[in-house]
Amino acid sequence: MNILAFESSCDETAAAVVTDGRTIRSNVIASSVDIHALYGGVVPELASRAHVEAIAPVATRALADAGMTLNDIDAVAVTYAPGLIGAVLVGVNFAKSVALAANKPLIPVHHVRGHIAANYLTHPDLKPPFLCLCVSGGTTAIVHVKDYTVMEVLGSTRDDAVGECFDKVARVLGLPYPGGKYLDELAQTGRDDAYPLPGAHVHDAPMDLSFSGLKTAVINLVHNAQQKNEVLSLPDLAASFSKAVSDALIPRVLHAAGETGCRQIAVAGGVAANSRIRADLEQACRTANLRLFLPSLPLCGDNAAMIAAQGYYELLAGHTADSSLNAYATRDLAQG
Ligand code: KG4
Repeated sequence: MNILAFESSCDETAAAVVTDGRTIRSNVIASSVDIHALYGGVVPELASRAHVEAIAPVATRALADAGMTLNDIDAVAVTYAPGLIGAVLVGVNFAKSVALAANKPLIPVHHVRGHIAANYLTHPDLKPPFLCLCVSGGTTAIVHVKDYTVMEVLGSTRDDAVGECFDKVARVLGLPYPGGKYLDELAQTGRDDAYPLPGAHVHDAPMDLSFSGLKTAVINLVHNAQQKNEVLSLPDLAASFSKAVSDALIPRVLHAAGETGCRQIAVAGGVAANSRIRADLEQACRTANLRLFLPSLPLCGDNAAMIAAQGYYELLAGHTADSSLNAYATRDLAQG
């Protein structure tokens, strides 16, 4: 079954064709990140305009790269939540038009469910149940994937998402936007014990996290040093921050594994590309005898192949929509 999917929840306009939820036929991404880099963050109105300009050519290219026409497509999937509302609307309306014109089923897909499904594209043998650490620019959660479309959020951030925290810290360190990957590179040359930083503990909630204190601690450290004309080691600070994030995430994943009895762990979202988190998880899972599934680096960030992959399982579960489908800025992952 060939699914044509669209993703436009933030600053990537993407279209892809995936067969049977597992095999990528094409995966096209047009990013507007260069426009937003001028402002140090995503400007929603500019993101929406960029999606409007890019979505038709990206769709045409996805079909061409797959060597297919709409006649070869069995269903159309689209990210319908969560995201920047004007941005999500562009993808939803485009997908509705394609589905209507080609008389194909329309499948609404939750963006974070899509990130989780990136693991199905990387690991053909991965099947639920498993735990997924979802870490992106907008989400930080530990999800129990009980079945392909049955999920429970066991713990999540009470404030900042981990990617947002990486980007804000990168900004005070003077790195380009989006800073997560630059901070990751810088951290690889630094000492991770140079600056003691707070954890992300939430009282009486062992699987929840709070990153605002950690973010503020780094920002205060940098501003205090500037006021006193002290020079900080940016690689050491990047490494200490990366360690603090990893040290916050990994014990909670292990705790969730203990609580649920799940022996398979996956990771999803843009921050799943982080080298420190990947290495620490590999070590922790080896020690705890858990099987770890990491998405391939190109599939960590936003893309439409992951939406097609999850769309396949949503379709098998009968989760389709008609042309009244709306877009939502927020939506519970467990609801789908
Ligand atoms: O999944 P994604 O592309 O978009 C959302 O759905 O939110 O995630 C983007 C986030 C950004 O905050 C970006 O800085 C972060 O992922 N990111 C990283 C790395 N690569 C991307 N954060 C830490 N280390 C990385 N290597």
